[in-house]
Amino acid sequence: MRFRASLVALCAVVLAAGAHAQQQPIVIKFSHVVTVNTPKGKGAERFKQLAEERLPGRVKVEVYPNSTLFKDGEEMEALQLGSVQMLAPSLAKFGPLGVRDYEVFDLPYVFDGYADVHKVTDGPIGKALFRKLESKGIVGLAYWDNGLREMTANKPLRTPADFRGLKMRIQSSKVLDAQFRALGALPQVMAFSEVYQAMQTGVIDGGENTSSNIYTQKMHEVQKYMTVSDHGYIGYAVIVNKKFWDALPADVRTALEGAMKDATTYANDIAQKENEDALEAIRKSGRTQVITLTPQEKAAWKKALVKVHEDMAPTIGRDLIQQIYRETGFDPAKL
Ligand code: LMR
Repeated sequence: MRFRASLVALCAVVLAAGAHAQQQPIVIKFSHVVTVNTPKGKGAERFKQLAEERLPGRVKVEVYPNSTLFKDGEEMEALQLGSVQMLAPSLAKFGPLGVRDYEVFDLPYVFDGYADVHKVTDGPIGKALFRKLESKGIVGLAYWDNGLREMTANKPLRTPADFRGLKMRIQSSKVLDAQFRALGALPQVMAFSEVYQAMQTGVIDGGENTSSNIYTQKMHEVQKYMTVSDHGYIGYAVIVNKKFWDALPADVRTALEGAMKDATTYANDIAQKENEDALEAIRKSGRTQVITLTPQEKAAWKKALVKVHEDMAPTIGRDLIQQIYRETGFDPAKL
């Protein structure tokens, strides 16, 4: 009798535990370093909304914007360790993982706008780059746009000579390091979350970023000048921990892939306008003087910077650079 009662109690505990386990949603922590009010911030929110709508009660996406969970230099390791499941680092931040190929996106002036970038990210090069992440325990899900890079500093930057001796903040990319050295500046790798304060206190003289990042981090309030140079591209790879992703129930993974596809369309549709609006807001703020380069000035920048392509070929791969040239029609000889 006592034995039967214990058995019944045990079954009840097991059933309750099973029901409890079933009720627990799968949690996806998605960490990134920009504000919610940016192309990436909005893309992450859209992914959360779509994923939770399509998998009610089964998946919970926790988005941590603005480096509130992890900052640059921490987040890749956190992803590999499984402390966070999803990230969207800029393509300039994959070098420390040992995948320098992604720095091809940092080559100055190689993309003449979003359509050129998509020829690369939507095609075989984009897929091949994702395959390189698998041995690092990471799966690449999507490429998201931000926009073109502009320069900011406390002095007007109109000619390559204006950069001489300036301490310029960079992301952890060897190409960006070479870019600023080609201009005679002193590049300094720094986490995105530290840039505003470093500009405010004069630890650095300037930096480069998209208009949406400059505006939403208020960098324009601590930099006297901004040059609309459009000299490079900033975009992202949305990545997940491979072990986590592979262990998901197949139907959940398929639904999440669908949510990511739709969030990607949304993020890439809004990116250009977000940056145009941010540039307009920066101009209107009157806090920084916005400089537009003349065609002659722009030609001088291109001439000074194109040598970086050749200098970086041994680091990021000559074949890869040639492939990108073929996709975009870029010809250094025509500059
Ligand atoms: C940076 O300057 O670090 C940015 O690219 C950050 C970001 O994610 O856009």
